[in-house]
Amino acid sequence: MARILITSALPYINGVKHLGNLVGSMLPADLHARFHRSLGNEVLLICATDEHGTPAELAAAEAGQDVQSYCDEQHEIQRELGERFALSWDCWGRTSRKPTHELTQHFADKLDEAGLIEERSISQVYSIDDGRYLPDRYIIGTCPHCGYESARGDQCENCTKVLDPTDLIDPRSAVSGSTNLEVRETKHLYLKQSKLVPELRKWIATREGVWSHLVTSIANKWLDEGLQDRGITRDLDWGIAVKHGGKWPDYDDKVFYVWFDAPIGYIGATREWGEATGGDWESWWREDKGAGDVTYYQVMAKDNVPFHTVGFPVTLIGSGESWKRVDMIKGFNWLTYYGGKFSTSQKRGVFMDQALDLLPADYWRYYLMANAPEGSDASFTWEHFAATVNKDLADVLGNFVNRIMKFTASKFGEQVPEGGAWGADEDALIAELEPRMAAYKSHMEALEYRKALAELRAIWVLGNEYLTRVAPWAAIKDDPAKAALGCRMGLNLIHLFAHLSEPVMPATARKMHESLLPAPPVLPWPGSNLKDTLSRIEPGQPFKVPEVLFQKITDDQIAAWRERFGAEEE
Ligand code: MF3
Ligand code: ZN
Repeated sequence: MARILITSALPYINGVKHLGNLVGSMLPADLHARFHRSLGNEVLLICATDEHGTPAELAAAEAGQDVQSYCDEQHEIQRELGERFALSWDCWGRTSRKPTHELTQHFADKLDEAGLIEERSISQVYSIDDGRYLPDRYIIGTCPHCGYESARGDQCENCTKVLDPTDLIDPRSAVSGSTNLEVRETKHLYLKQSKLVPELRKWIATREGVWSHLVTSIANKWLDEGLQDRGITRDLDWGIAVKHGGKWPDYDDKVFYVWFDAPIGYIGATREWGEATGGDWESWWREDKGAGDVTYYQVMAKDNVPFHTVGFPVTLIGSGESWKRVDMIKGFNWLTYYGGKFSTSQKRGVFMDQALDLLPADYWRYYLMANAPEGSDASFTWEHFAATVNKDLADVLGNFVNRIMKFTASKFGEQVPEGGAWGADEDALIAELEPRMAAYKSHMEALEYRKALAELRAIWVLGNEYLTRVAPWAAIKDDPAKAALGCRMGLNLIHLFAHLSEPVMPATARKMHESLLPAPPVLPWPGSNLKDTLSRIEPGQPFKVPEVLFQKITDDQIAAWRERFGAEEE
């Protein structure tokens, strides 16, 4: 039994995630976890909300809430949506909880002991009326390039130019609107990442051929451009205190930078899991405490890759302790909405709660992963979504299940018919299924979801083709034994498809399974003897015709959804 650790990029706390976030991190991580569980492996799937930094503070302010209650509420909202999307987290943690706080301070101590932390003085904007330093994005003013009046100190939203707060004309505080600002000298901690470049290069070289080209090229690009030392503290109230246990005593008003503590949240959330379940969290993370046999997968969108190939590894390596490093990074490109950006701030695109208002999770799970932005960006359109659902799910899988169950029930009653001898048609079916199942499995293993789901669909198609060849509806008159065998095989195929589809569409797979047999908590991957597997549903046993599995999406629905969500090409 292999031990498989899986983390997906931790979603920011500020608001419900859109389908682009889902397909680039949490959903594929769930498919991988379910796949490994079906193989009988020991799996730990970890996720958590990423709760620190200015986005959390700003969103709370906008919602008129204090940050703590805002985060409490949003964490629960995202937990519920995760559950409704059938994301099978072993832990749904929070970076704001004690384990991540303690671990972050622990890593800072270790990095300091290793001589990798340095104090530097920098100049920063201080708001006299607010009584605080303002991070770049808390300073608003007129863009010197395009004249946009609400440009933020880090970037102009209008012309996208990257800015320094001191570039802004008529700068003011985003907190209070006050223009009573001045530049002050202040101290911050810097992590001397550059010292670890040789070590990083050595490690990344060992990942060549395991990580995709997308991932390795982003990692190498960062190193080639020369790794800058990184400020790991910020002037904020909300976050993990820099001052702790007598260390850095004059850092009263400073916290660690969110990108320093967020990945440590993977470990923190695992420790939360350990505290909640009595599980040994260190055996998943410390190579000196049993994590040597763990295979660790990280799943994320491409903008997160630098922080996981360079940033977080620097923390782990620099600590001098034997922390488990990632084995496989799966990076995704962007899912676009009609060719443009899904955007949380502009509320553009479809969000997880809205998606579930329209259709159950399995429609989305299948569609998103079958069209995942793997080799390049992928575009979501309602037309494409509807076409895929109608063809793959309703016509191919749904229709297969429905027609064979209904026909069998009408001719033989709701019990599996007996009679008929295994022959050439059945041998041919097995010969076609075997290579496709092997391909499906190896693509799932490699987290190649477009390819994997194309195979899964092809496997469903083989079921339909078998039925067309054997045509029990024609055989029933002259050769009832042949019809019985065809029907029985059809039911066995439904059973097989349930097992194979479970990682992708868990609710539908259980429905299919339960129409034939009670479903165990995890549907195991089929064994290598396919003839045995396809004889599992035995003559005489009862079954139940399930309700239609997938409803087709109508043109009226497409029109209504286009109207509701907007559908202009960008
Ligand atoms: N919250 C970040 C994002 O959505 C991802 C954080 S990943 C972590 O881009 F590793 F830092 F947690
Ligand atoms: Zn501008």
